[in-house]
Amino acid sequence: MHGIANTTQSQAWNGYEGTHWAAHQDRWDAVNAGFNQPLLAAAAITPGDHVLDIGCGAGATTRLAARAAAPHGSALGLDLSAPMLERARASAETEGIDNVRFEQGDAQVRPLTRGSFDLAVSRFGVMFFADPVAAFANIAAALRPGGRAALLCAAEPEGNEWLTALATLTDLLPLNGFGKSGGPGMFSLSAPGAAAALLSEAGLQNVRAEHVTAYGTWGSDADEAADFLLASGPGRHLLTQAAPAIAARARTRLTDALRPHQSDAGVRLRSTAWLLTATAPAA
Ligand SMILES: C[S@@+](CC[C@H](N)C(=O)[O-])C[C@H]1O[C@@H](n2cnc3c(N)ncnc32)[C@H](O)[C@@H]1O
Repeated sequence: MHGIANTTQSQAWNGYEGTHWAAHQDRWDAVNAGFNQPLLAAAAITPGDHVLDIGCGAGATTRLAARAAAPHGSALGLDLSAPMLERARASAETEGIDNVRFEQGDAQVRPLTRGSFDLAVSRFGVMFFADPVAAFANIAAALRPGGRAALLCAAEPEGNEWLTALATLTDLLPLNGFGKSGGPGMFSLSAPGAAAALLSEAGLQNVRAEHVTAYGTWGSDADEAADFLLASGPGRHLLTQAAPAIAARARTRLTDALRPHQSDAGVRLRSTAWLLTATAPAA
């Protein structure tokens, strides 16, 4: 593997966070699948395209991109996380997709062959860069002249019902700044205009940010969804600070907060995102 600039993220995604995502790939895909359609519509991949999927994780969108680019095109998934990439490779093999590759690396600094991709896509893999302008410039340089980017990043924290549910626990499990717009982590690019400004600064053109909303399935019922949320990275971080009796009360209250979202379709929660589109400068 090449150099890593985002060492804290690398530790998280090769540690608990990445192991949880890899072990529960189906659950995380059910959470995020509602964003696939807007992402793929914006990406408009055509057969023959070579697609780079940034922060591809367990590779759901990389596999979708590879299918859309087949038979002569391809998709490369780039991610920091060894456990998630292992899962991605296994799923691609099971599905018999042979025009997809996965590489471990930091998208901010990994040398990518200049001009070698028609398109860069990402489903929530571009929010964790310590130096986003450097990262987006690295990605832009990998695009052919006039190549395109379609990237999803989290929008305003309050647009996410899972976070609203976690926030009901704040007297038991203080959020301590988690979920603030602009802070480090998943909401780093959430402020209106922030991500678009960074893409422009990185040299991309025709930058647009569209606000999109999607519902995801977090569990078959409120109990299952509460367990999943509390076992996820943010939930676990909150829980590890709490005594067992407090943790039990928090779990009960979270289940109650999620119950109104439960239906025959499971626990469906709304999330919001910025769908960023841009083009690389013509030669
Ligand atoms: C929220 S997950 C999304 C994963 C996947 N795109 C999906 O939709 O299931 C964020 C992903 O970004 C990856 N990531 C974070 N920072 C990265 C970086 N600097 N370079 C490459 N991947 C990164 C993480 O390892 C993780 O897989």
